[in-house]
Amino acid sequence: MADKDAVQESHNYHLDKPARNETFALKGSNSLDWGAKNRLSNIFAPETGRTVMLAVDHGYFLGATTGLERIDVTIVPLLPYADTLMCTRGILRSTIPPTFTKGIVLRASGGPSILKELSNEEIAVDIEDALRLNVAALAVQVFVGGEYETKSIHNMTRLVDAGNRYGVPVLGVTAVGKDMVRDAKYMRLATRVCAELGASYVKTYYVDEEFETVTASCPVPIVIAGGKKVSELDALTMAHRAIEQGAAGVDMGRNVFQSEAPGAMIQVLRKVVHEGTPPREAHDIFETLKRKK
Ligand code: R5P
Repeated sequence: MADKDAVQESHNYHLDKPARNETFALKGSNSLDWGAKNRLSNIFAPETGRTVMLAVDHGYFLGATTGLERIDVTIVPLLPYADTLMCTRGILRSTIPPTFTKGIVLRASGGPSILKELSNEEIAVDIEDALRLNVAALAVQVFVGGEYETKSIHNMTRLVDAGNRYGVPVLGVTAVGKDMVRDAKYMRLATRVCAELGASYVKTYYVDEEFETVTASCPVPIVIAGGKKVSELDALTMAHRAIEQGAAGVDMGRNVFQSEAPGAMIQVLRKVVHEGTPPREAHDIFETLKRKK
């Protein structure tokens, strides 16, 4: 019990200062509950409002893909440079040190492997297990235009309902089928569908033309996936353009962990996303860091 004798009688109620009532800066997120905002702040750096998510969830349908054969060896050393890690609960429990205190975005849908129809997913995580793992958000694949479009959207809305009960945001991941055209028209449709149906933020692919219309017409933040491995300069250029055109960050996998120098790559990606470093300058730094290694 506090010592009564130490109670001070003088008080300062700062009557001249109105109560602070800050708005939450992240696009479209101001009406979320405190817990959801707190979790989003563990994904999007509050200083910049942007994020470098490291995506290593590919094994949920691809198995041990190139660069992810030994996540303990190749990915764990990169964790200090990521704002957020996107992974499955299997990898999280088995391989990621619990001392990693930044945001975890948990892959929450799955089912078919690469050998089957990929859009035929189910919800693959119970909200209680997600809470037990203390995750910052749930990620669900949405196949707009895909064979199981409605089912995948229903997966998302069920996770949004579950997440809303506990303040866990949902990332809608737009999956573009191999027969679909990857253009701004499709991305506007897919991202808007995810946002309208409750996603707190949306992952999509960068498109060379009119990407700014994709970010403008989506009421919540957009992050871009990296897609298949391209040169480091091309990946940095894509990230830079996406940020310039309104993206709130990247959720990049193969262009980091399949890089010839993954540690150098994620460090310069941070510079592009958080500091706006031009791609050529970032690439020069990449070459220097790579040589040091
Ligand atoms: C794909 O299914 C996963 O959701 C990946 O997290 C996503 O595609 C981002 O990885 P990458 O940059 O390799 O495309």
